[in-house]
Formats: sequence, structure tokens, C-alpha cells
Amino acid sequence: MIRLERLTFSRNDGDKQRLIFDGLNHEFKQGSQIALLGDSGAGKTTLLRLIGALIPLQQGKIWIRDTELSALSETERALHRRKQGVVFQDCQLLSTLTVRDNILLTYKLAGLTGDPELFQSLTADLGIAKLLDRYPQQLSGGEQQRVAIARALIHQPQLVLADEPTGNLDEGNSQIVATMLRELTQAQGATLLMVTHSQGLAQNFEQRWFLRNGQLQPLDSIHE
Ligand SMILES: Nc1ncnc2c1ncn2[C@@H]1O[C@H](COP(=O)(O)OP(=O)(O)O)[C@@H](O)[C@H]1O
Ligand SMILES: [Mg+2]
Repeated sequence: MIRLERLTFSRNDGDKQRLIFDGLNHEFKQGSQIALLGDSGAGKTTLLRLIGALIPLQQGKIWIRDTELSALSETERALHRRKQGVVFQDCQLLSTLTVRDNILLTYKLAGLTGDPELFQSLTADLGIAKLLDRYPQQLSGGEQQRVAIARALIHQPQLVLADEPTGNLDEGNSQIVATMLRELTQAQGATLLMVTHSQGLAQNFEQRWFLRNGQLQPLDSIHE
């Protein structure tokens, strides 16, 4: 469960403040696959970063299950962040590490001992089992993003945040990557919050929300 309580957030816009959220209340169900759509600049990335405790709250509260983010110290925030998986548009793989080490790095950072079985099944499911000794620059964009998904899921996070993970991919690879992300998080019982521009990709998601004027509306209620 992700609960937003009177979430208020503004960004510096030149010499004035621009309100992105003004008392947003919302609840996302635990264990669901959620697609988040909205025009460019609507605040999707900001919302994801707030929920991920990657940027500090200004006003209001965000509950992730029974943790309230504004109550956490810096150290607690860092620990909290390790319990979630994050996938970005640009994969952000480390070029000096092999695929295997890129995947395992977060695992180790999360302070967990290895689960070889999960590693094996994830890399097989994602079709990257044969690429483990390669370096990121020796992979296609779609392969890189599948490695990034493995990295995000290897420590079995409760919450996976994906910010336009298919933004740099062609249509075929976008479908593959979004489907894998959705099915694998579902199999792990995790909540997936994925930002996308594509209504097509959002179609198979349990929940679809559209962010506009700082408010979340069901996508099906939006008529352009
Ligand atoms: N680091 C930042 N500093 C100042 N303004 C920002 C920053 N990041 C984003 N913004 C502004 O906040 C608004 C929301 O941005 P963002 O959350 O990135 O939207 P989206 O992801 O929906 O395109 C935009 O007007 C953007 O220009
Ligand atoms: Mg964005």
C-alpha cells in the first residue's frame, strides 16, 4: 500500500515556485501493477522520486505500508531505499562491471546473502542468462534494460519503481520489457509503479492513472 496524504510539493522555476502537487491524497493498493501516465512536465518523475524517498518531502505524508517517509532519518531513508527496486529510462548500468556484477551489486548493497536459484530463474526469464560475462556496452538497448530489471528485482523488493523504462526502446522491445516487468513483479507479489507514455503498454496493468494538474484520475475517465 502506498498512501499519499495531502502531498504538497513545489519546484523552483526561475525566480518563482511552481506548485506540482497541492494537497494530493491517493492510495495505491499493495501488490498491484500500476501504470502512471500524464503529459510531459506533469510531475510523474517527481512523484516517483518522492515515493522512492529519492528526494525529500516538503509537506504532507507518504506511507509505504507502515513506514511514513517524512519520519525517517537520513540513515533510515537509505535503508528504506534498498528495499525497493528502481528502473530508469537510461538503464544506468555500470560500464566497468559485467552483467553479472551489475545485477549482483544492488543485491550486495542490500546486505543480503546470495540466492543462486533466484538469480538463475530471473536471468533465464529475462533471456539474459547467456550474457552474464559481457559488459553493458556489448548489449542492445533492450538487453540492457532487461539487465536493469534483473538488478531491480534480485533482492525481491516489495516495491518496484520504473520511470519510462521503455522510453529508449523500439515498439517490440518496449512490449517485451514492460510485460516482463509486470509479470515478474506480479510473481514476486511486489507492487509495480511504472511511468509510461504509452496507453498500449498501460493496457494490461491492473490500475491506470493519469496525472494532470497535480491530481490522479483513472485513465479510463480521460477523454482527450
Ligand atoms: N530538479 C528540478 N529542479 C527544478 N524543477 C524541476 C526539476 N525536475 C523537474 N522539474 C520541473 O518540475 C515539473 C515536473 O517535472 P517531472 O516530474 O520531471 O515531470 P514528468 O516526469 O511528468 O515529465 C516540470 O515543470 C519540471 O520542469
Ligand atoms: Mg519524467
